[in-house]
Amino acid sequence: MSFQACINCGEKYDLNEIVYTCRSCGDILEIRYDYDILKEKIKKSDWRNWPLSVWRYRDFIPINDFSKIISLNEGGTGLYFCRRLGQALGLKNLYVKNEGENPTGSFKDRGMTVGVSKAMELGVKMVACASTGNTSASLAAYAAKAGLSCVILIPSGGVAYGKLAQAIVYGAKVMQIRGNFDQALKMIVKISEEHKEIYLLNSINPFRLEGQKTIAYEICDQLNGLVPDRVIVPVGNAGNISAIWKGFVEFYNVGLIEKLPMVTGIQAEGASPIAKAVKEGRSYIVPVEKPETVASAIRIGAPVSWKKALKAIRDSRGTAETVTDAEILEAQKMLARYEGIFVEPASASSIAGLKKLIDYGKIDREELIVCVTTGHGLKDPDIVVKSYEKPFEVDARLESIEQILGLMPARAQL
Ligand code: F0G
Repeated sequence: MSFQACINCGEKYDLNEIVYTCRSCGDILEIRYDYDILKEKIKKSDWRNWPLSVWRYRDFIPINDFSKIISLNEGGTGLYFCRRLGQALGLKNLYVKNEGENPTGSFKDRGMTVGVSKAMELGVKMVACASTGNTSASLAAYAAKAGLSCVILIPSGGVAYGKLAQAIVYGAKVMQIRGNFDQALKMIVKISEEHKEIYLLNSINPFRLEGQKTIAYEICDQLNGLVPDRVIVPVGNAGNISAIWKGFVEFYNVGLIEKLPMVTGIQAEGASPIAKAVKEGRSYIVPVEKPETVASAIRIGAPVSWKKALKAIRDSRGTAETVTDAEILEAQKMLARYEGIFVEPASASSIAGLKKLIDYGKIDREELIVCVTTGHGLKDPDIVVKSYEKPFEVDARLESIEQILGLMPARAQL
């Protein structure tokens, strides 16, 4: 009923075949379903009785043996109505889907529970990824739970400390290469293709995206069947925006929703090949040789899922935008101070992009908008300590505190 297929030539591969790129044309793969069969399956299923989580949607996930699922209780993240931030931006219907609430602090856990469960089903012993930080933190945790050995390639410099600490504590073999993420990814793909005992769990692996698409399912369920007019997603390697679009399309295909949202991708200005392609009306990307941005999670110049992402944006009649580092940090502050939600810089790019598109008059203020925030703020505390106001240094005297607070010294009044 379901199989892997090349997104370019349609060549089919069995679900149990370990293959990352099409053997005929070299393009990437996706999981395809027969939606008539799926429609019948979910009619008979008790999925609505399951708690909000990735595995509530197990009927839509291509795992055969549910006894082998490796789970840390991923998904079921909050969808927050943002009254104060909405007011500040002039919007009535703004929500944030806060993926930082996942077990290792990012949306990657949704993909890894499926990817590592697939690894168990296949019987592999070693898993691997290249990462700007969150993918590695997540894979290391799920590999630990599964008892698999885990190999991680990260770029030298720029991986936020919180993420590095996670990968280390979960016991992965961490290699910091002298190069950037794009180079690390190229190498790990090659190594996994040449050494079949290493199972690759970057988002080039289509099983990862089958977990991540549940973000879309949860949004529909949390809005009680309402569909957002627009979903705004930070974009790096472009797997997540593709997965979220796939999720909405699938709910639509099986008749659970009646319309589709516009999907809008946001990239950091110094790492924005997809946003530039959209803005310039191109159907191909020009990779960025030396990507640069404060949002280290999305410091990616050659996104592997660019074709899927461009299709998602075009098919949904969405758009894409670039944001500067200053805009990203301002958005991080606004979300924290208006809504009490602390996200890492890459995540704040969805809010920064929203603000910019409103300023440009490209978003209707009546729209029901969901911004996806992808990772927790504590992943990268350095950036806050560096760029925000410093704590007051005071002597351990009541008078010093009163002076800073502008209070009359109580004892002097007596
Ligand atoms: N937001 C965060 C916090 C991320 O960690 C990433 C990707 C993205 C957004 C972009 O998602 O790549 O699917 O477009 N981080 C990857 C990593 C690349 O290695 O952790 P994408």
